[in-house]
Amino acid sequence: MKLNETIKSILERKSVRRYTDEPVGEETLSTLVEAARWAPSGLNNQPWRFVTIESREKLDEVAGFTKYAKILNNSTAAIGVFLDTSTIYHREKDIQSIGAAIENILIAAEALGVGACWLGEILNRREEVEKALEVAPTLELMAVIALGHPPETDEGSNAARKGRLPSETLIVGKF
Ligand SMILES: Cc1cc2nc3c(=O)[nH]c(=O)nc-3n(C[C@H](O)[C@H](O)[C@H](O)COP(=O)(O)O)c2cc1C
Repeated sequence: MKLNETIKSILERKSVRRYTDEPVGEETLSTLVEAARWAPSGLNNQPWRFVTIESREKLDEVAGFTKYAKILNNSTAAIGVFLDTSTIYHREKDIQSIGAAIENILIAAEALGVGACWLGEILNRREEVEKALEVAPTLELMAVIALGHPPETDEGSNAARKGRLPSETLIVGKF
């Protein structure tokens, strides 16, 4: 397989759940939002909205709404990803588009050497997160992405690379 830089970032990306104290920084956060902004969306509807978080207090407040609190307590930044329900054209496709935007953020983070973890469990307390992040009532939380610089030795929760089903199992047809 030919591995250019983009393919490498896709194949080497993994969820990072522990971080150093080094700030992610506003410039990197902007680049990550830029990557998300250029994701494909049905009808180019761009249903995504973002809240960037660098404030220690806010990260800890949002951490209180997930059983994966430790990840956000340890992260130095996060991005709240929202669906703007006021611009929905097709709920399923709009949510798929948001998945594409989130994946763009994860791949871009990997390319920049920033660790990231997609947090979905936090949706169990969606409304409390929406309130904490002071978003308009039309915005529905889709995920929070925890961010930070990975430790040099990645002993701990994110040490092991997760396996994947073999492609022979996944390709269920070939013509
Ligand atoms: C929709 C979705 C929700 C997820 N929610 C969480 C979560 O709440 N907490 C967490 O630690 N990881 C969460 N993850 C990360 C997955 O656990 C992780 O992607 C998966 O185990 C594969 O590992 P990898 O990302 O290292 O390849 C989520 C991933 C997705 C796509």
